[in-house]
Formats: sequence, C-alpha cells, structure tokens
Amino acid sequence: MMDFSALPKAELHRHLEGSLRLRSLFEIARAEQLTLPAPTAEHFRALVQVRQHEPFTAENFLSKFRVLRLFYRSPEIIQRLTAEVVADAAADNIRYLELRFTPVALTRARGFSLYEVMDWVTTSAHEAARQHGVVLGLIVSVNRHEPPGLAAEVAELAASFRTRGVVGLDLAGDESRYPAAPFAPIFREARQAGLHITVHAGEWGPAANVAEAIESLHAERIGHGIRVLEDPHAMALARERGVAFEVCPTSNYQSGVVPTLREHPLPKMLAAGLRVTLNTDDPSISGIDLSHEFRLAHEVMGIGRNGLRQMTLTALDAAFLSSGHRAALRQAFHKAWQDAGETPP
Ligand code: HPA
Ligand code: ZN
Repeated sequence: MMDFSALPKAELHRHLEGSLRLRSLFEIARAEQLTLPAPTAEHFRALVQVRQHEPFTAENFLSKFRVLRLFYRSPEIIQRLTAEVVADAAADNIRYLELRFTPVALTRARGFSLYEVMDWVTTSAHEAARQHGVVLGLIVSVNRHEPPGLAAEVAELAASFRTRGVVGLDLAGDESRYPAAPFAPIFREARQAGLHITVHAGEWGPAANVAEAIESLHAERIGHGIRVLEDPHAMALARERGVAFEVCPTSNYQSGVVPTLREHPLPKMLAAGLRVTLNTDDPSISGIDLSHEFRLAHEVMGIGRNGLRQMTLTALDAAFLSSGHRAALRQAFHKAWQDAGETPP
C-alpha cells in the first residue's frame, strides 16, 4: 500500500471557504453566540459538511457555503481560519498550493469592505505559508450567481493585489443556471492586467460550457471540466490550447456529477491525453484531504504510480507561476521524490 500522505504534493484547486477546520468553526459559533439550528455537534457538522445520507446534489453542496458565510465575523477570525487552511495543507505534505478565496463571501457577515478581507487573507495566508514552508499562490473567485458588477469590482481589486501574491481569477458558482458570457469583459481586463484565468465549467453544466470558458473567457485551466469527454469540439479545443483540468473526484461524487467514484471519468481523461491534475475542491465540506483523493485515484480508479506522479507534474506545469519559479519548484519536487524513495517519472 502506498503512503500518499508522505508524497510531496501540489494542489491547484482548493477553496478557502470549503477548507475550514470543524473544531474552529464550532469554537467560533460558541464564542460569537451564533444562533444555528444545531443542538448537537452532529447537527452542527451537518450544516457545514456533506454527510453520507444527504442528497448528493449541487444545491446541497452549495448550501454549506451559505451557512459558512455567517462565521466570518472579525479580522482575527478570518486570519485564524486562513492560517489554519495553509497549515492543514502543509500537514498533508502539500508543498505547492494555489488557494482560492471568494472575497464577497468573506465581507457579508459584518459588512467588511472587499479591500479589508483581501488584505487579511493575503497577509495571513502568506505568513502561514512562510511558516510552514509551502509555496503559495492565491486565486480570487467570483460567483456566476452573483452580479457581474460586483465581480468587476472584485476583479479590479484582485489585479491590484498581484504584488501581494494574487496570481489568478476564477469563475465559480452555479454553472447550470448562469452563463459565463456576462463575465467575459471582466475576465478580458483581468487577463490584460496580468492575472491568470481558471473557470469552473463542465461540472454541473455541459461540455459546451468548457468550450465557452476557453473561447470567451480565455481560461488556461478548467475547474473540474469532467464532462468535456461528451463533446469532440470541446475536447479538440482543450487539446489545441493545452488547457489543464483541475479534477476533484469526491466533490464530483458528493455534488451528484458522477453516480459512483468507480465511474469517475478521470482515467478516461488521462487516457484521452488531456492535461489532468488532482485536487480536493473543498476538503472540510467533503471530509477529505488531498492524500485521500490520491488513494481514491489509485485504489478505486486504478491509476498507477506513473499516472499519479504525472498529475503532480502537470500541476507544476500548469501552475500560475513564472518560468523561474516553476523550474525551482520542479527541482524541489524531484529532490523530495528522491528523498521519499520515489523515482521521478
Ligand atoms: N463548483 C462551483 N462553485 C464552487 C464549487 C464547485 O465545485 N466549489 C465551491 N464553489
Ligand atoms: Zn471549486
């Protein structure tokens, strides 16, 4: 049996708001006297985590983020939660992390400004990354189901935070009901300002959304995108442009995109020659870590050692990094693989 937690890993798709420690949330609820319909710890858990008996739907999955918005009640809380997310990634031996966060979500509980929450998150995330020896990039997310005017404001701020480690802009949210088109001008400007682009598509919506994300939003990477296999045009486009896919198996299972993990299209995507990376999406909502997803890929989906290492190499290749930093990181991973007794591919 392979020890996946000992392997050095890279992750490109993890949401801050979906990665919060249950223990801390519980403490915050108590300290802040939040009134929640949760008489017991188990009820509390069900508010913020997908449980086995729940409906595995996108709606249920997204409902957890709505509850979590109640918790972001002070700069100290936001900074603490952020630092813990980075510490937990480091504890799972993630050496390179692109962490995405949704500024609008963090402002809501107390009417903080977008600038304030971006200031707090970027500062504490980088401080924690330094402390734990994680190489960190931050991605700012905007939601399709929220107004494009708000997204424009967030995107402009994100560009001004490039000097503070923000490397990309992400479109998240309800893809089944909200098209990407209204966000095209915002993403064009962000790209011109030097931000990298990744878009959630082909998860809760059809493969055509992957093509739309690539053509209209110039996405370099696609969040999930697992339905791309259903459409030859989207496949051709993804191959032609070298688009990388941020695949998150447990998230797909819990939000009802795949009926069982055994039927997850990850092996088919690899076999089709797509650029595939393995990610958690929302580790605390799903009750997993990245090692868990590696174990699934290996034990349930039958992906061998080479395939697993290839996905990490693809993550380094598709990381939103300058070429100098990428080369240094590749070297660090090769050394870490050797130290762990792994032969690099
Ligand atoms: N899809 C869309 N939006 C999201 C997701 C997701 O899987 N996770 C967090 N926000
Ligand atoms: Zn996501």
